[in-house]
Amino acid sequence: MRVGVFASGGGTNLQALLDVCQGDAPADIVLVVSNRDDAGALDRARQMDVPTAVLDDPSDGASINVLLEQHDVELIVCAGYLKLMPAETIKAYQGHMINIHPALLPSFGGPGMYGPRVHEAVLASGVTVSGVTIHLMDENFDRGSIVAQWPVAVAPDDSAESLAARVLEVEHQLLPAVVLAAGREGHVVRLAPDESHFHAADGVDRIEQRLAHA
Ligand code: GRF
Repeated sequence: MRVGVFASGGGTNLQALLDVCQGDAPADIVLVVSNRDDAGALDRARQMDVPTAVLDDPSDGASINVLLEQHDVELIVCAGYLKLMPAETIKAYQGHMINIHPALLPSFGGPGMYGPRVHEAVLASGVTVSGVTIHLMDENFDRGSIVAQWPVAVAPDDSAESLAARVLEVEHQLLPAVVLAAGREGHVVRLAPDESHFHAADGVDRIEQRLAHA
């Protein structure tokens, strides 16, 4: 499956995908798109000889669609992409476009809820479990149907930074699991834990082994 990744920041989620989508993997990162020409994600793509593009106008869905068609993108992955995807692109890729969010949606999501603010809100709420959500995208921030989730315990002495770091480690395992499953099936498949309880995440092979088609 030909995957296009949209990222605005450092791109550690992109890197997790680049690391597994190698050789005969069922998914291949064929394009990395950013709204910022200084995004670290672009450097990561270039290091792996993956074509990149910087959007002049992130609201211009027609141009984005042309770019995606030129690279024959079959699945869009938004990984730290901070712009709203234009309605034209959402329409063209409905069901073939996913986003990763560092909390358990529908809680702690929506406009403005990104980066440290998410984890600060989680800590302020007093919840003892946060986690990672991957969902299909629609025209609203963080509102599409859920594809996969994984919990991350909130420690009593957590700061936004320490919680973010633990959540990010799980992101780097859950996103590849979802993208590889989509590649194997030819379309996005919903994944759910195959056990009634969750273990601490300690490796993509462990998470992937514990995710079955819901
Ligand atoms: C991740 O926490 C992701 O969930 C959120 O933005 C962050 C991107 O981090 N949407 P990186 O650029 O992949 O390191």
